[in-house]
Amino acid sequence: MDSRIPKRPVLDWGGRVKRGRAHLPSVATLPNRVNTTSGRAAIYHALRMAGLSAGDEVLVPTYHCPTMVAPLVMLGLQPLFYAVGEHGLPELGGLECDRVRAARCMIVPHYFGLPRSLADVREWCSEHGVVLIEDCAHAFYGMAGDRQVGAWGDYAIASMTKFFPVTEGGLLASITRPLEISPLPNQGIRAELKGVFDMLHMATRCGRMRGMGVVLEGLRGGWWRREAGAVQREPKFSAPEPQGVAISCDMGRVESAPLLSTRVLFNLSSGDDACNTRRQHFERYLNELSNLEGGRFLYPSPISGGAPYAFPLWVDDVERVYRRLRMRGVPVNRWDRLWPDTPVLEGDVGLRWSRHVLQVLCHQSLRDSEVSFVIKEIREAIACQCEEG
Ligand SMILES: Cc1ncc(COP(=O)(O)O)c(C=O)c1O
Repeated sequence: MDSRIPKRPVLDWGGRVKRGRAHLPSVATLPNRVNTTSGRAAIYHALRMAGLSAGDEVLVPTYHCPTMVAPLVMLGLQPLFYAVGEHGLPELGGLECDRVRAARCMIVPHYFGLPRSLADVREWCSEHGVVLIEDCAHAFYGMAGDRQVGAWGDYAIASMTKFFPVTEGGLLASITRPLEISPLPNQGIRAELKGVFDMLHMATRCGRMRGMGVVLEGLRGGWWRREAGAVQREPKFSAPEPQGVAISCDMGRVESAPLLSTRVLFNLSSGDDACNTRRQHFERYLNELSNLEGGRFLYPSPISGGAPYAFPLWVDDVERVYRRLRMRGVPVNRWDRLWPDTPVLEGDVGLRWSRHVLQVLCHQSLRDSEVSFVIKEIREAIACQCEEG
């Protein structure tokens, strides 16, 4: 491949613009909404609205990315980890002890953008007076059982960068609760310009927006360097490191409004086209990567109803495969950076997933040729692992 394969949606000439209303329900069709700078910022604001006090416990899954935990620790709350079952849902049976009953809030994600009904979780939370934050960072669109995504939670959060060609953005929404939040301050003209520049730069680095690269390189040299340097970036937020595990998350700009470019691009983007393309890519992965010797689709059966974020691929001998795929520019993620002190729990798949599951991205900006490359690289990496093993 000549240029990088994008790890998330990027701008391109001729991208489809929205015509009329989207057909699939989404977090953005819930009645109460606030735009934020990121998914983690949306979690932060949901936690602030949930009526918790410093020291309260928040249930979070053992299979997580640190950006799901950092907002609560930043607010002085305590993570209390719950076990994840093989379908990616909380193991509610393990939550009945007194210690867990003291938890005030629970964050439950729809992993990989393959949404599932949260009916049982909803019932458990209502019974125990626990505020449910439905984490739709991977699942912006679709149905989760018989409700739309985001409609099970007291609050729902979404991450824009995973679904739209923007450099930042998140959404906090609720079907039942008004979102009382004072207006978030704008980031200023320099940050807006930098946002537009970064968005275009990300596209040209991936071989999109042909012709624009030269213009951007010119800008990078002179005037732009001074402007970009003047944008203040807030420091990263670091977790305590009892085991020397460095977990740091950019929690900057949680109190700011998202950039204007994010809002404009979101309003222009065609969700239906994006969802169709994502499903096609996912289907190809499902057909060609599901039953390899040494690798398989994670779940026992496929799940429909959403717009997938990633194809979850279980790999037996994962370290070498992952290293090789990263070196070759294959767009895969792995949640191998766990929050310090994530416990070993009975009946939990979370710790094994964090090691063995590769999230093979399937966003709408991937070209068919890039998806073919990804499939070829993964098949070769796994086959080579089997031969050597
Ligand atoms: C499940 C989940 N929730 C929340 C987040 C945070 O989203 P953002 O990166 O927009 O802050 C992520 C980010 O990867 C995520 O995967």
